Amino acid sequence: MASLAEKRIVLGITGGIAAYKSAELVRRLIDQGAVVQVVMTEAAKAFIAPLTLQALSGRPVRDSLLDPSAESGMGHIEIARWADQIIVAPASADFIARLEAGMASDLLTTVCLATSAPIALAPAMNQGMWNKPVTQRNIDRLAADGVELLGPASGAQACGDVGPGRMLEPGQIMDHLTSSGGVRVLDGTKVTITAGPTWEPLDPVRALSNHSSGKMGYAVATAAAAAGATVTLVSGPTALTPPAGIQYRPVQSAEEMLAAVEKGIEDCDVFIGVAAVADYRPAQTAASKIKKDAESVMLELIRNPDILARVAQSPKRPFTVGFAAETDQAIANARNKLKRKGLDLIAVNQVNETNNPFGSEENHLVLISKTDEIDLGRHSKSALAEHLILEIAHRYHEQHSA
Ligand code: CTP
Repeated sequence: MASLAEKRIVLGITGGIAAYKSAELVRRLIDQGAVVQVVMTEAAKAFIAPLTLQALSGRPVRDSLLDPSAESGMGHIEIARWADQIIVAPASADFIARLEAGMASDLLTTVCLATSAPIALAPAMNQGMWNKPVTQRNIDRLAADGVELLGPASGAQACGDVGPGRMLEPGQIMDHLTSSGGVRVLDGTKVTITAGPTWEPLDPVRALSNHSSGKMGYAVATAAAAAGATVTLVSGPTALTPPAGIQYRPVQSAEEMLAAVEKGIEDCDVFIGVAAVADYRPAQTAASKIKKDAESVMLELIRNPDILARVAQSPKRPFTVGFAAETDQAIANARNKLKRKGLDLIAVNQVNETNNPFGSEENHLVLISKTDEIDLGRHSKSALAEHLILEIAHRYHEQHSA
């Protein structure tokens, strides 16, 4: 999969001689699979033709806040919600000052003010302008607000000066975007994931369980952390090493899993139930090992709590995603489950001769929401997890800026 596959990028272009490099940046973003919406300021149009950028991005360039025909398509707030990442390259001194002041004086500043997506700036200006205390103050304040600074580089400038203020090359901007997890679509969110099987103890040495390996849940936790989320992984017993940089809560039974999930649920933005929770547990757990004295044994089982449904019904419910493993009528059954449990999204594993996800490195997932259905196809669990996280991020951000 290309490293920016289906990531939605708003590329802001402001007035400066470096604007000609933005055409190359659009081409490289598209090559990596990104969907690029160019937003230009008035001044940028003096340096590069919108038609060039439209041809390269395959989408009409947006340049006006007050254009009724463009706004009736994707309005400025929709652009702000749509974006996974905003990059402004080149970012002029004037634009940086307006952004720092929280102005919404044109389409680009308005989109930046309204969005919850991360913003990165590639400044480009004369070295005197860059070195001015006011510009440095603006940059420091924006950085403190979480805006990311890419460059500038130092060297010979178009005006003949030498010093800091050259825009980074498109290749350097791309390296930044595609390294360390690329676009951090879940930056600033808290995500709780359940994974693995549960063990329902019969006695101190035996338990009822299932064949879940935990691989899918651990891959989802890894992808969520790479997307910038603070991840809590509540895991039943598995043979896997917990991913680095996450909070790991090992549990055994469904009741322990529920208690661990409920602990942080008030403060959670997204919940993803990947665990294969045992539906029933022994009514009694023997205090000592059950001896094989009897010829036959009757086990009474009682229903476990449905962790996913509890989360979906909690008062401050997070964006709630479930998994379903289905052998027959997969889509219809999953649609039913989505409704019954009150979920935002359900990922369906089709269990048949060509796809048995248990223990496998690969899986085939179909995502179902109230309004749509997307077949993610058959891929490695890590590729599917990345795609799933992207879909969750889009829907979560749409719901939360609505
Ligand atoms: N789940 C849960 N707690 C349970 C049971 C299931 O949180 N006690 C979650 C799983 O993590 C998964 C989804 O619910 O996200 C699966 O739902 P479930 O109704 O158990 O699906 P199936 O096992 O496919 O259901 P059924 O046996 O009814 O087909």
